[in-house]
This record gives sequence, structure tokens and C-alpha cells, in this order.
Amino acid sequence: MTAVGSYLPANVVTNEALSSFVDTDDAWIRRRTGIAQRHLVADGETTADLAYHAATKALANAGLTGGDIDLIIIATTTPDNTFPSTATKLQHMIEAKGAIAFDIQAVCAGFVYALDIADAMLQSGRGHRALVVGAESFSKLLDWEDRTTCVLFGDGAGAVVLELADDAGDWGIRSSVLHSDGAYRDILYVDGGPSSNAAVGHVRMEGKEVFRHAVEKLASVMDEALSAANMQAGDIDWLVPHQANVRIIDAMQKKMDLPSDRVVRTVEQHANTSAASIPLALSAAVDDGRIKNGDVLAMEAIGGGLVWGAALVKFGRPS
Ligand code: COA
Repeated sequence: MTAVGSYLPANVVTNEALSSFVDTDDAWIRRRTGIAQRHLVADGETTADLAYHAATKALANAGLTGGDIDLIIIATTTPDNTFPSTATKLQHMIEAKGAIAFDIQAVCAGFVYALDIADAMLQSGRGHRALVVGAESFSKLLDWEDRTTCVLFGDGAGAVVLELADDAGDWGIRSSVLHSDGAYRDILYVDGGPSSNAAVGHVRMEGKEVFRHAVEKLASVMDEALSAANMQAGDIDWLVPHQANVRIIDAMQKKMDLPSDRVVRTVEQHANTSAASIPLALSAAVDDGRIKNGDVLAMEAIGGGLVWGAALVKFGRPS
């Protein structure tokens, strides 16, 4: 993983602004979730636009152009259209003419899923350079009259570049573990979709149940990822978790016994941006100089399905 870039829509909506049209208040949202604000797309701004801005920054940071990219995977639950994929739209926008491009859908775990798929495809000879993007206009799936869900989410995009290199050594993805369990599909889902209901639908969630599964499953999948990489939690420089709720992040920090300043937290400013949240957090910590070339990152996420996963990555490239 040699570079990262991200993009947030300009429109910032604070908790106070939300409470002018939803029965909620800043104190409740901060106390229960750690969220203070979220960025929301403007009218006419789409997931492909967010992905484009994030991807062009990641490419510039890697010293590459679209023409250097062999594979584009966008993790998104909020594509511009049912088809074609948002990834093919991005492919055209960045002029990555020869690239394979497709979307994957694993909701909030989408980024760790896409990372695993892209790495496997590069390792199996499908190209040398991949662009992995998490991009969401999640606000489009929210029921703005349901205070138990609409306060939790935001929009944005993050992108990383993966590059194969002969001298990669222990750089790049050290381990990746993914899980799915459809038995829990009813605790977090959207009540629409092309084959079940003509409408796009809205997010429905049993918050407490999701919270309970998140704390338990993220801890166990992180143990699996550490064990697969033959590493201990103490070998991790940074935890870059999915940003759903600061209480879930704090529980992971405690479980891994990491110092607080080794955990990247962006949920306060971004809220839960689903598949975009990990690359957005990574980008923030690289841009402000906390994460440096050669740091070992632990990423984890869980989403509707349920689907969940963790990846350990040595960030950057040998200098
Ligand atoms: N503003 C004010 N009050 C609210 C509210 C809001 N936005 N949303 C819910 N409440 C109220 C509830 O109606 C309830 O009131 P009651 O006690 O009178 O019935 C009270 O607050 C407690 O609600 P509850 O749902 O028990 O709160 P909670 O502590 O479980 O927190 C979540 C709710 C959603 C923040 C929490 O369950 C959570 O974060 N779950 C995980 C969600 C998640 O991460 N989803 C995405 C995974 S990718």
C-alpha cells in the first residue's frame, strides 16, 4: 500500500443543525457515538465524484496516473446507478483505459473486502498496480425521520494504491481475514433494492445488537489477523479502525492494549462513512504526519450481512 488520498464533500452538517429537523440533540449524539458532525453530498454530487477526487489524490501521492493502473475496485453500497458499476465510471474519469474495474458490496466492511480481493488479484498475476476505493453517499440511504440511524452516518471517499514490487519483502498486506454470517442479516439492512422493492430503501438497524456483535467479532477477527501474520498487538504502530462509534473503537483499543494516541479516530468529524471510513481515517493520519512510511497498520471493520474482517499492512514502500 504505497499511497492514500481522500475527499469529503464541502457541506458540513453539525449535530446542532440536525437537531433543527430531527428529535435529537448534540449531547446525546456525542455521548452515545462520539460524532460531532458529518459531511453530506450536495445535490448532483455522486459517489463517482467523491471517488474521483480521492483517487486522483492517491494517484498523485503515488506519483502515478490513471494509465498506470491495472485494476480498480470500488467498495460501495451507494453506487451512482444499479449498473454499470461506479468503478467503470471512475475508470473512464481517470483514463485508466486498460484496467479491470468493478464494484464490490460489503457495506461498512467493504474496504477490507476490496483490499483482500485486490491483493489476491495482483498476487495471482492480474496486474501490477491497483486502486482500491471506498466511496459512499450514504446519506441517500437514510430515513431522515428515524433518529436512531440518521444521526450516525456521513458521506466521503478514500482511495489507496497497491503496487507489486520485487523488493516488497514484508511490505504491503501482511495478513487479511474475512468473515460473513447471513444469519444476522435482519439486524442491519436496507428495506429496498431492485429485486425486492422498486424503491432504493432506507437503513434499518437494531443498534444494540449491532454494537454487541461489533465489539465481539472485531476483537476475534483481529486476533486471527495477528496470528496469521505471526504478530502481537504490540507490533502494531496504528489501529485504523472502521469509524462507526467511538465506544466500539475504545473497546478495541482496550482489547488490544494499545495507547490511545496509537488509534486513529475520525468518527467525530466524519461520522460513519461506511466503506470510506478506513481510507478516510488513514488519509487524515498520513496527511498530518502521524502515520509514516514503514508503519504497521491494523484495520478492522464490520457491516450489514453481517460481514467483517481485519487486515494488517506495512504502509508505504522501501526507501
Ligand atoms: N437522539 C436522542 N435520543 C435518541 C436518539 C437520538 N438520535 N436515538 C435513540 N435515542 C433514544 C432512544 O429512543 C432511547 O430512548 P428510550 O430509552 O426512551 O427508549 C435511548 O435514546 C437509548 O437508545 P438506545 O438505542 O438504547 O441507545 P444505545 O446506547 O444503544 O445507542 C446507538 C444507540 C445506535 C448509538 C448504538 O447502539 C450503536 O452505536 N450501535 C452500533 C451501530 C453501528 O455501529 N452501526 C453501524 C455498523 S457498521
